[in-house]
Amino acid sequence: MSTSSTYLEKLFGLQGEVAVIIGGAGELGGALAAGIGQAGAHIVVADMGEAACKSRVEKLANIGVSAEYLIVDITNRESIKSLLAGSKKKTGKVDMLINCAGINVGTPFLEVDPAMWDKIFAVNLKGMMESCQVFIESMLQNESGGSILNIGSVNSDRPLSRVFAYAASKAGVVNLTQNIAQEFADKKIRCNAICPGFFPAEQNRKILSEERIANIMNGTPMRRYGSPDELVGAALLLLSQRAGSYMTGAAVYVDGGFTCSWF
Ligand SMILES: NC(=O)c1ccc[n+]([C@@H]2O[C@H](COP(=O)([O-])OP(=O)(O)OC[C@H]3O[C@@H](n4cnc5c(N)ncnc54)[C@H](O)[C@@H]3O)[C@@H](O)[C@H]2O)c1
Repeated sequence: MSTSSTYLEKLFGLQGEVAVIIGGAGELGGALAAGIGQAGAHIVVADMGEAACKSRVEKLANIGVSAEYLIVDITNRESIKSLLAGSKKKTGKVDMLINCAGINVGTPFLEVDPAMWDKIFAVNLKGMMESCQVFIESMLQNESGGSILNIGSVNSDRPLSRVFAYAASKAGVVNLTQNIAQEFADKKIRCNAICPGFFPAEQNRKILSEERIANIMNGTPMRRYGSPDELVGAALLLLSQRAGSYMTGAAVYVDGGFTCSWF
């Protein structure tokens, strides 16, 4: 191995570490699983549907990633506890938690259904808070602590039309991430967020009308959608206890320039 690849491996390599990816059967979660796995970590794909989880693990195996799956519903604390117990049973410890579960519904404000608001918050924010609680308790027992990566959105920075509950929940994701970061900064637990721009996927395709697509392209200086694997570099930086050792509470926008554009 050349000096430069040894150097990069030391900085970003995740060999011997275990990553639990909640929402790992989804599009962005899947790309993160592939990237984190190829950097050396053992992956636990945690999601709701058996078939989607199985298919994700097969895809990971095809690229040489060591992975397994466990079913979880992030809105149910007992289910999150079982996920932690199941992950530790198979692998002994969990070093990284990636919170990538998310749902979205778009309506004008006067049609926002309070029950749907609660459902979106239950997954996107309350579920995230509970998974952080459950996993941090375990990470505190690790000699090397742990690293958490929460997935926000450009909505964490600003509202986008018609996705009221989603936008408010994603604003909360960054605040939650920063608050966890400051409380555990001296306990070897780092907590950061990636805030993606626009990556068409199952949960948002249904709200991508022609008008919305035009607005997105106008507002994105790179004039294109992101490809899910473009999140991997930021994820490895934030997750690695060496490359990201002095980073906690960061919200890294991977958005083709969307949040820096103003006209
Ligand atoms: N795709 C984008 O453009 C984009 C942009 C910004 C942020 N995000 C965020 O990225 C994350 C991943 O989204 P995606 O685009 O890959 O969508 P996706 O629908 O492909 O993946 C979301 C995953 O979350 C899982 N999930 C939903 N409810 C769950 C629950 N109660 N318990 C466990 N898992 C549950 C789903 O089964 C699915 O596999 C979400 O938090 C989303 O808000 C996506």
